[in-house]
Amino acid sequence: MHDNLDQAAGLRNINKIKPIRVLAIISGKGGIGKTNIAVNLGVALSQLGKNVALFDADIGLANVDTLLGIEPEFNISHVLKGQKALNDIIEVGPSNLKVIPASSGVQYIPELNNSEHALIIKAFDECRDDLDVLIVDTATGISNSVVSFIKACQEVVVVISDEPTALVDAYAFIKLLNCEHELFKFHVIANMLESVDDGQILFKKLSKMTHQYLDVALNYLGAVPFDDYLRKAVKQQAAVVDIYPQSKSAQAFRRIGQKISELPDCSFTAAGHVEFFVERMLEYEIQESVA
Ligand SMILES: Nc1ncnc2c1ncn2[C@@H]1O[C@H](COP(=O)(O)OP(=O)(O)OP(=O)(O)O)[C@@H](O)[C@H]1O
Ligand SMILES: [Mg+2]
Repeated sequence: MHDNLDQAAGLRNINKIKPIRVLAIISGKGGIGKTNIAVNLGVALSQLGKNVALFDADIGLANVDTLLGIEPEFNISHVLKGQKALNDIIEVGPSNLKVIPASSGVQYIPELNNSEHALIIKAFDECRDDLDVLIVDTATGISNSVVSFIKACQEVVVVISDEPTALVDAYAFIKLLNCEHELFKFHVIANMLESVDDGQILFKKLSKMTHQYLDVALNYLGAVPFDDYLRKAVKQQAAVVDIYPQSKSAQAFRRIGQKISELPDCSFTAAGHVEFFVERMLEYEIQESVA
């Protein structure tokens, strides 16, 4: 009975709530470009007129802040302590990209208690109406907290490169998410390639592996070439799309951003809401802690 009431309330809300696309950027292997991709796609999508927020789920390291040279006064820990609303801590990055700052030393989300969970849900709920896209940059590796973030997002973007271990690690991660967590659809971006055309070849290799052994659908979003301008931008703590817009990586990010903006609307289910992102994240954690 209680479930039915909850569902009815949820369905009523669906008409009122604007769907937003929630993308998790993941990889099997570290240092493969996830944070750069999250930041630059965020800027590229913002330049296309989307209202984009970037959430640094690598809580504890504050990667995104560093990459954009942001030194926020407040961060997610203030929201967790109930001192600030999410809107109050958001920093505005290039092209109006909204950055939700992490902070060094913040406890991991799975360690939060119930009232802290409720605070995060409320916080995301309050800024939901302003957003078209939420990009979640995850920490490397298959930890419980990373999996919980990934499961909470509607769409998963797997980053690969042409190092053999990167492909094998990506396959292992997809396999785990598919077999143990029932995820079936994955977008793929190839990074740090000599030529953009190599991306297709790499994608085909990965598709061959998944096709043979798993029941998943992969969608190729495109490739980002190896680019010294991206490295220069990292040193200058800026997004390459912002400061070197004509560079080959910036062009690639804009192409991929365009492709993402042309993806069919995220389905008009409960999954199109930010609070759903958070609720799923927490549900998963509760299940994990009970198990
Ligand atoms: N397309 C590219 N061309 C050249 N260098 C790149 C490219 N993409 C990433 N890099 C380099 O790789 C480094 C690591 O990138 P990034 O921090 O985005 O990876 P990550 O996957 O988020 O790492 P972590 O696992 O630590 O979270 C960057 O500092 C940058 O120097
Ligand atoms: Mg990173």
